[in-house]
Amino acid sequence: MNRSADEALRARALKVIPNGMYGHESTRLLPALYPQFFSKAEGAYIWDADGNRYLDFMCAYGPSLLGYRDERVEAAARAQTALGDTLTGPSPLLVDLAETLVEMVDHADWAIFCKNGTDATTMAMSVARAQTGRKVVLLAAGAYHGAAPWCTPIPAGVVPEDRAHLRYYTYNDVESLEKAVTEAGDDLAAIFASPFKHDAFIDQELPDPAYARRARELCDAAGAKLIVDEVRAGFRLARGSSWTSLGVQPDLSAWGKCFANGHPISALLGNDSCRDGAGQIYATGSFWLSAVPMAAAIETLRIIRETDYLEHTVHLGNRWREGLDAAAARHGYALRQSGPVQMPQILFAEDPDFRTGYAWGEEMLKRGVYVHPWHNMFLCAAMTDADIDFALEAAEAAFAALKARQPSLEPHPVLVAMFGAH
Ligand SMILES: Cc1ncc(COP(=O)(O)O)c(C=O)c1O
Repeated sequence: MNRSADEALRARALKVIPNGMYGHESTRLLPALYPQFFSKAEGAYIWDADGNRYLDFMCAYGPSLLGYRDERVEAAARAQTALGDTLTGPSPLLVDLAETLVEMVDHADWAIFCKNGTDATTMAMSVARAQTGRKVVLLAAGAYHGAAPWCTPIPAGVVPEDRAHLRYYTYNDVESLEKAVTEAGDDLAAIFASPFKHDAFIDQELPDPAYARRARELCDAAGAKLIVDEVRAGFRLARGSSWTSLGVQPDLSAWGKCFANGHPISALLGNDSCRDGAGQIYATGSFWLSAVPMAAAIETLRIIRETDYLEHTVHLGNRWREGLDAAAARHGYALRQSGPVQMPQILFAEDPDFRTGYAWGEEMLKRGVYVHPWHNMFLCAAMTDADIDFALEAAEAAFAALKARQPSLEPHPVLVAMFGAH
C-alpha cells in the first residue's frame, strides 16, 4: 500500500507536534501499516492521506452516527454558518436544543452544553459535589471518562491530589459497589457508571440490571447522585437514556461524540435534584455556545427520532458478527466478540499479546476495511448490506492471509512494554 504521503506527514509532524500525534487517535499503539492521517470522508468511508479508501468501523471513535457528511445535517449546519457561529452570546438554538434533549432523555430537566465529553463528565462531577456538598466520587476501575487529571488513564502530569477523593469499584459487581459506598460514608457525592462496560483491550460487558438498580438505590439511600457517562454509547443503544430499558434513571448524564453527527458539541443533562448545584458551578468555554454545532445537533436528533437508524445498525451489526464468526471458524480461528453488535469489540481468543489481532487488522486494511484491534468499534447508519458483504469478503481473505503469516508474527513492542511478554 502506498504510504508516502502519510510518512512525509509523520516526519513533519514529529518536528512540530509532541510525539508526532497524541491521544487515542495516535497510531502509536496500532499496527505499523495503519495510516495516521486522513484527507476526507463520505458516508461510511474514509480516505487516508495517500488516497486509500476504507470502510470505516471506527466512525471517528464515535462521532459519525449517520455517516460522514450526512447531507441533512450538513445542510442545517450550512444554514446556520451563513448566519453566524461563535457570537457574543448564544443563538436562540441554545434553548431549542435544550428543550429537544429534555424532551428526548427521560431523566433530564435541564441541559448545559460544552465541547468535549471530558467537559461534560468533569462538570457532572462538579455539579454532584456542588449539589451535595460532599467530596467522594466512585468510578468503575478501568472505565474511561476522558482526558482530565481526575480521569486520564495515563498518569504523566497527574498528582495524587487530583484524585484525592475518588474511589474505585468493579463494574457489574454489586458487592464491590456496596463496599465502596460504605467506605465513602457520609461524604459520598456520586457514583459514575458507563451504560455498559466498554473498556479498551478487554471483552465488553452489558450492564447487569441488578447492578444498575443497586447503584440507584445506594445513591438514593446516601443522598448521592447517580451519573451515567453516555459520551460513547449515547443514542447508539436507545433514542434516549441508555438505562431506561433497565428501569433506572440517573440524576446526571454526560453526552458527546455523536449527537451532532461529528460537529463539536457535548452536553451535561440533569434532573431537578441537581438544578441548584448546576446553577452554582462556573461553566463556560469560548466555543461552548457556538451555534453551528447546535443546528447540526437539532437536525441529528430529529433524524434519531424519526428514522430507523438504530434498527438498521443493529441489523448490520448482527450480520457482521455472525458472518465474522463463521469466516473465522472456516480458517481455524475463534473470536471473542462482545458488547452490543452496533458497538462491537472484536478480539481473538488466545491472543494475549494481540499479535494475531494486529496482523488481522493489517490484512483487513489492505483489503479496504478499517477495524481496530483493541478498542470497541462503531457501525454507522450510512453502512449498507452491500458494505457488510464487502467487509465479510475482505475478512474471509484476511483470515486466509493471516493463517499464512501466523508462524512469523511478532507482538507490537509498545504492547509488550504495557502488558509484558507472553
Ligand atoms: C465514555 C467516555 N467518556 C468520556 C469521553 C471523553 O470524551 P472526549 O474525548 O470528547 O473528551 C470518552 C471519549 O472517548 C468516552 O468514551
